[in-house]
Amino acid sequence: MTSSSAPGKIILFGEHAVVYGYPALAVPVTQVQVTATVSKNSRRGMIIEAPNINLTSELASLAPEHPLSVVVHGVYSALKVTHTPACTLYIQSTIPVASGLGSGAAVSVAVIRALSEFLGHPFTNEQVNKLAFEAEKIYHGTPSGIDNTVITFSRPVYFVKKKPIKTFHVGEPFTIMIASTGIPAPTKESVEAVRMLWQENKPHWEKVFTRVGEIVWNARQAIERGDIAELGRLMDANHALLQSMKVSSVELDHLVTAARTAGAQGAKLSGGGRGGNMIALVEKENASEIARALNKAGAKRTIVTEVT
Ligand code: MEV
Repeated sequence: MTSSSAPGKIILFGEHAVVYGYPALAVPVTQVQVTATVSKNSRRGMIIEAPNINLTSELASLAPEHPLSVVVHGVYSALKVTHTPACTLYIQSTIPVASGLGSGAAVSVAVIRALSEFLGHPFTNEQVNKLAFEAEKIYHGTPSGIDNTVITFSRPVYFVKKKPIKTFHVGEPFTIMIASTGIPAPTKESVEAVRMLWQENKPHWEKVFTRVGEIVWNARQAIERGDIAELGRLMDANHALLQSMKVSSVELDHLVTAARTAGAQGAKLSGGGRGGNMIALVEKENASEIARALNKAGAKRTIVTEVT
């Protein structure tokens, strides 16, 4: 039997613009995770059990474009496996689906690792990341690759599409509160909607994305020198640009305002938007007060994560 776990993720800065080649910052969230276990069974082929999404199926019965089918066949094809071994793939997750915490990418990463190990050829991080990206295309249409990258390497990333992975140094640890709207984040749709805006007026949106890129760069510098106040201001500025891309929502804006009113140093939506999560920069001392304010404003769940 082999088993592998993968964390969730949040995007701190730069979502959406990152799809167009601008930088973004993201960190793993280890409070939530996916675990994939592969064990021998006495039947034929692979059985997949994923209770969190109510799935029990033979691999052969899944549509070829199902993300699980894509990752499993991706592993088989990379290892030139022609006969599916008799095994059960069990997937357990504490990452809420479609929440902006990267549940799809975490499933892919955990499954690729557990299965390649089960087949006697554990993949390198680069191999895992490449295969997980193929499944991301199904979840997200035209993904940048940031979700699979931060989850595969499980460390803070300064990400630029198609560029070698770079991490960043955290000068002063800081605390992020993640609050969920409870509304599924339709990432594929919001990425497509931004693409339509961009196609209608490329010069304007390239300017907006350039501004986002500057915010990301300044945020990286602020994180490295431990300038938390500046980081908060940059979060607010990034949220305003995401609003202009029409990927925020009444619920997200409401939580962002509630967090700021309760004393957060900055707040923004995180991920695809139109649902999913927002994040707030908080101090440890006022974290529970801000969590209370967010719950009162309708947050369905809050998670506190320390970026170190
Ligand atoms: C989704 O977590 C982040 C987006 O920027 C899409 C992507 O980068 O693939 C919205």
